[in-house]
Amino acid sequence: MPGLTAESDGIRIDVESADADRLLGFYFGGFARLSGGDPVEAGLLEKRKKTWFLRNEDAWSDDMTEVAKGHLSALLVSLDGKMQLVEEELESFVRTSYYDVRAFPTTLDSLKAHLGSWNEPSWFRISLRGSMVPLERTTWVRRSRIESALDRMSALGDSVIYEVGTVFIGEHRDQGEIVETTVMQKRADGFWDFWAYDASGQLLDRIRKEPRDMLIPTRCTGCHFGDRQFEPERSYPGFAQPGPRGERSLEIPEQWRNPVLATSIQEHARRSDTILGLYVTLYLAEAASSQGASSPYLEKFGIDSTGQ
Ligand code: HEC
Repeated sequence: MPGLTAESDGIRIDVESADADRLLGFYFGGFARLSGGDPVEAGLLEKRKKTWFLRNEDAWSDDMTEVAKGHLSALLVSLDGKMQLVEEELESFVRTSYYDVRAFPTTLDSLKAHLGSWNEPSWFRISLRGSMVPLERTTWVRRSRIESALDRMSALGDSVIYEVGTVFIGEHRDQGEIVETTVMQKRADGFWDFWAYDASGQLLDRIRKEPRDMLIPTRCTGCHFGDRQFEPERSYPGFAQPGPRGERSLEIPEQWRNPVLATSIQEHARRSDTILGLYVTLYLAEAASSQGASSPYLEKFGIDSTGQ
């Protein structure tokens, strides 16, 4: 490698973000292992004092796929002896290699073949108009995944943590047609992969938004890793005011607007697992408001089935 020897310090990675550890963990964890792994253990990254370095090829673990190694080797070659990687170069490298390295199902049909249809009662769905995109959104997650998150909690104020492999689907509708489908899937290293399909079911490298498209995955982390609150989740159990791009609303039955659950769980504000929707809250609100309800979770958390 030009300018890079076994004894060298590696390539210094200059990331301005206060969240550098987390961002690099997410980006390089996806290279370390197909299931998601620790990039330090994989011999890819090293932190000295407060600075991160990309290590040279001799240090890389055998668990890395050939595809991942190929992209990283090409990056080192492209640096042509330069010993530093600035943020834009890092992001552009991550964007151009991400789909290849992460090997997601290449079409929406193959994702459906893998997961089965989500338009089923065994999946929990939320319809809303929110801040992520100014389109109608329907999000889906298997009920069993919400239940396994509830199983790990001993009180409503505990973190909501989903099991590895959990998938969230977000469908974006424009005049009734699904124009984009976004996916988040939890990896073994605890980070979530982000990806998307277009109206014809092909992989899509960005989600359309004004004034700037959201490039995958580098623009997906902003809100999901951050602590800013968004509508309509922020105003739940109340109603959100319209925003600059129109209506922001949760399409739920009135009985699901449950102030006790909202206050006890604070799911959106806490976003313990970088998941921003109100899945656990609304799942319990649904159970609490069903006639003759007998969900084991109502009993477990001492929730009154009158809905309050
Ligand atoms: C402007 C902030 C913002 C950005 C940027 C953003 N999201 Fe989201 N995302 C949200 C909010 C708020 C929710 C919860 C409400 C909803 O579903 O609209 C959400 C929910 C989701 C969900 C459902 C799981 C969950 O967390 O509730 C998926 C899947 C998703 N986003 C994918 C993506 C992808 C892929 C990108 C990058 C292209 C992205 N998001 C970028 C704000 C954002």
